[in-house]
Amino acid sequence: MTKSVAPAGAGRPSDLAGRGGLKSKGQTSGGKAGTVPKAVQSPFSLPNRELLERLGQIASRLGTRSFLVGGPVRDLLLGLPSPDLDVAVEDRSREFGADVAKELGGRFVYHSRFLTGTVQLLSTPDSRLPSSHIDVTQTRAETYERPAVLPTVRPASIVGDLGRRDFTINSMALELTPGSFGAFIDPFDGRADVTQHRVRVLHARSFIDDPTRIFRCIRFATRLGFAIEQQTLDLMRSAVEQRLPAFLTPERILYELRLICAEPLVLPMVEALIHEHVLKAAWRWTPPRGFLSGMKKLVRQAKSLGTVQGADPGDSPLRDSPRTVPGFRPAELLFIYWLSVLPVTDRFPIRKEEREAAEAVAAAARLEDGLKRKPKLKPSAIYQALRGMPESALMILAALEPRPAARHIKTFLDELRHVSISVTGADLRAAGLKPGPAYREILDKLLFARLDGKIRTVTEEHELLHRLAARRKNI
Ligand code: CTP
Repeated sequence: MTKSVAPAGAGRPSDLAGRGGLKSKGQTSGGKAGTVPKAVQSPFSLPNRELLERLGQIASRLGTRSFLVGGPVRDLLLGLPSPDLDVAVEDRSREFGADVAKELGGRFVYHSRFLTGTVQLLSTPDSRLPSSHIDVTQTRAETYERPAVLPTVRPASIVGDLGRRDFTINSMALELTPGSFGAFIDPFDGRADVTQHRVRVLHARSFIDDPTRIFRCIRFATRLGFAIEQQTLDLMRSAVEQRLPAFLTPERILYELRLICAEPLVLPMVEALIHEHVLKAAWRWTPPRGFLSGMKKLVRQAKSLGTVQGADPGDSPLRDSPRTVPGFRPAELLFIYWLSVLPVTDRFPIRKEEREAAEAVAAAARLEDGLKRKPKLKPSAIYQALRGMPESALMILAALEPRPAARHIKTFLDELRHVSISVTGADLRAAGLKPGPAYREILDKLLFARLDGKIRTVTEEHELLHRLAARRKNI
């Protein structure tokens, strides 16, 4: 079942990225900054209130204020479930994370360069927690030495921290400190932008400081069904025109592409990225013919396998769904397919398996002719044509290739690759054969005979082995 991503009354995603085009809305005057919206004031509208209060108490014991910040506050206002728990403290973030891990049962990893950390919660049978982890940050301001480089950070107040963020809708906080619990902090009028369904940057240098925000802008606008406010759209387009994405490391761009691949609305997001020439600016990349229809086929395959269940940001099916085959989620397959048409270099920080799978997909034109054309093939012929290919590449090709090949690939994935024989090297030795290349050949012959149904039982396997061994010995 596919749920709508757009909150009630929001523009349809197609308003934003239909045919890849992004619409914009003019900026309107802001709402009342700092006022507490009713939905947020009500103690009962806060999911996990108990947990949030506990986090506030832990921070307070350390003498610091604490806040729920960013995405979870935005999602709370929209009435959407949020998969994340992002908590900021004004001081002592390292101690706070360690104490949270101790009290709730988990492990805390801290990155002192960015003053951030993650508490990885251990699962307990009584887990009512919304997420398996809590992201902890110290409220901080950022300075960008040059466009597109990671910032240097220094501690700041909560308002200073909200001011370093990407969009107004992500720059709101909810205080967790006992005594002020539930106070809504909204210095940039993010609530008005949430209400009016638009994405707006905080300042004119936002995309220059951090061009990954171009990807993020498209992702949030499409996911939430929001428009991009006119000035923001102009700034984004100007950053693309100046080729600022080219200053980003491949690692940071690939991270964004991975996130996009995990979104329910991956297709309109990719269309918008293409329409806005973002990867053209980064890598001079334009999509080859058939790329979008390939993406569509992969999404359709994921849906038909029942792995795409919803379209909630809090329940990103492409990211969280069960794996289609051991080891692969639909989002990973989409990412590998994307890699197969990108100008991948040695500098791309991708796993060896991803690189190999992408290469195999790129080389699919070289799939055997018979496999591509003949509707009827012996199972052993299919097996020989496909064995050794990465499983993820085969999953992708099963969705992309035209019929005879697609059917053969599915047969291989579902049946043929699971077929095995019971004869081993020890049996070959016992039959008087000396170890060497002949072993592989004989074992293959046995397997192919089994695949083609020429032999069906262990006894028949051994009979064939002995016939083959006798023939060898007579040579
Ligand atoms: N942020 C930012 N600039 C970036 C990345 C992140 O300002 N380039 C800020 C935003 O305020 C964002 C917060 O850091 O809300 C957390 O980042 P992330 O987890 O990526 O964003 P979420 O809003 O939580 O997005 P999602 O709903 O996709 O988890």
